[in-house]
Amino acid sequence: VFMSEIMGLSVLEKQIKEKLNVENVIIIPGNSDEYEWIKQEMGKACIAYLRTVLGERSTIAVTGGSTMAAVADVMTTLNQKNDYIFVPARGGIGEKVENQANTIVAEMARKAKGEYRLLYVPDPLSESAYESIVTEPSINETLQQIKGSSIVLHGIGDALTMAERRKTPDSIAVKLKTNKAISEAFGYYFDASGNVVHKVRTVGIQLEDLSNIDYVITIAGGKSKGQAIASYFQQGKSDLLITDEAAAKQILRGT
Ligand code: F6P
Repeated sequence: VFMSEIMGLSVLEKQIKEKLNVENVIIIPGNSDEYEWIKQEMGKACIAYLRTVLGERSTIAVTGGSTMAAVADVMTTLNQKNDYIFVPARGGIGEKVENQANTIVAEMARKAKGEYRLLYVPDPLSESAYESIVTEPSINETLQQIKGSSIVLHGIGDALTMAERRKTPDSIAVKLKTNKAISEAFGYYFDASGNVVHKVRTVGIQLEDLSNIDYVITIAGGKSKGQAIASYFQQGKSDLLITDEAAAKQILRGT
């Protein structure tokens, strides 16, 4: 049973690589909508991969969400020197504390015995607050560090679920519905073709920065996220997708 399961998933991985046009795919058996621990299994796969791509003093930028929190749950040391730094990818995006990037980064660093930097910036930011915040020396220093990350770990969410979770104002929720937003990542909302429908203004990694990052690692699973994952990959740069079987099957099924 075990062998056939592994063989089955490798076929699925190949199909997802082709469908989403992504170089590397790892699929964990199960459905993380049903069992939270599947997120931790995706986290373990992420950690194993991180070990193979870490350079000297790598900076690892991390987004928020329960999937990233599960990666933090299972984090361990990543190399002999523990010479890495964890940073939040973007200013806090309206999540509860345990799902905020700052919290997750601190936890990852503690378990990996590495360093971390935090970013205390609200969102959405007004244009004028944005202009003054980015020139604030302490914030600017962290921002430079974030922009210089060599690795990004990020989640993907269902657009409307995320809008709700962030208590997004009605006017924006309407905009998301009207423009058929399907997925959300990094504070950007995308439609089924990968067009940006809305963007939360904050500091940190912007979509266009991803092309300068050596390894973008996407972690998202659960049947309910199948469409969202497919939508993000219409445009998003990612070098590795770690997902689960239920999301993978949903992606192949289409709508
Ligand atoms: O809010 C941060 C974030 O990474 C979003 O960009 C993403 O949509 C969401 O969290 C994923 O959250 P979860 O892992 O809980 O589904």
